[in-house]
Amino acid sequence: MGAGVAAAAAGAVCGLAQAAERFNGPSLAALARAKGVRFGSAVGAGPAGSLTGAFEDPRYCQVLIDECGVLVPENELKWYVLRPDAKTFAFERADRIAAFAKAHDIALRGHTLLWHHPKWFPAWLTAYDFGAGSVAAKNAKALLVDHIDKVVAHYPQIDSWDVVNETVDPKDGSIRRTVFSDAMGQDQTLDVAFHAARAAAPKARLVYNDYMGWEAGNEAHRAGVLKLLEGFRKRGTPVDALGVQSHLGTEDPAAPGSLGQPQEKAWRAFIDEATGMGYDLLITEFDVNDRDLPADVGVRDAATASVAKAYLDLMLDYRQTKEVLAWGMVDKYSWLQGFTPRKDGAPQRPTLYDDNYRSKPLREAVAAAFRSAPTRA
Ligand code: XIL
Repeated sequence: MGAGVAAAAAGAVCGLAQAAERFNGPSLAALARAKGVRFGSAVGAGPAGSLTGAFEDPRYCQVLIDECGVLVPENELKWYVLRPDAKTFAFERADRIAAFAKAHDIALRGHTLLWHHPKWFPAWLTAYDFGAGSVAAKNAKALLVDHIDKVVAHYPQIDSWDVVNETVDPKDGSIRRTVFSDAMGQDQTLDVAFHAARAAAPKARLVYNDYMGWEAGNEAHRAGVLKLLEGFRKRGTPVDALGVQSHLGTEDPAAPGSLGQPQEKAWRAFIDEATGMGYDLLITEFDVNDRDLPADVGVRDAATASVAKAYLDLMLDYRQTKEVLAWGMVDKYSWLQGFTPRKDGAPQRPTLYDDNYRSKPLREAVAAAFRSAPTRA
């Protein structure tokens, strides 16, 4: 497809940009780029009116165009969207995002080749009969490798992949069980995924992505992730980076009315261990959950901006942090509106832009963190 055709196709999806109140000064992508970091956001290509329908909103698209150097399909590359059955690949939705990114000269990153969590497996896959014993292992491997081969080949422009997502159980740090791991073994399943991704995309950054956070309550999750990362190194599994989802302010029963209790020292120790093993870092799904903060908007916005600045300063201080992705750019489209609604029924304010497409203190916090970050190669 030529650039003009791609632009027309993407224009049909995203409509015409309208004038919107904009930030002053350089975009977040430019501020990040000046420090050797890539900034962007997730976006969903769902139907208009749904939380993932942001892509049908021209003003939302304009925010993406103005601010982002990279886009990530929010759900469109997951098995439950992409794979209606064992034979079919439904690429249309992800293709729309890819066309939009291309038309606006924005990079694309991939999320995720294997969300290794049974809750997110499509029903047909959970019920799939792989046979017994070594036959099951062979069949499971064939299905997983075929998926990774075809998806990676369909998007050769993707240079950064969340290969495996959320395989560590936060309760006790163990590796989750799925039909794949029951057939192949747990380490083997994850290794198969990374080796297949490396073979299909030799130059791409291959990422293990998870939501262990810096708040109290994440201790077992962090320990489990470190154990996993150690295992990858011991076995020579090709994993380049740790994706730190960074859904900040995850509700913490011990800290009502707050954004949780950051354990800065323990968090630095965790990041030191991961980088010490040679892993790069990405912030893959940044947002700030304000569901436990008071109703007052000013109070909430100040609190989320302040915790974000502290967190991003810490993370960007590590030269290994190479990408920062927001999980959505405008409050009304955030997944958190549905996932953890506020008890008072007020909409959450977890992203960088308000519902009128005006930048919020959270956007300024991200900009300030990029401005003060050290430069990396
Ligand atoms: C979320 C999406 O934002 C929602 O639209 C969807 O219903 C569920 O998944 N961790 C991840 C992301 O790795 O894929 C999740 O995205 C958010 C938590």
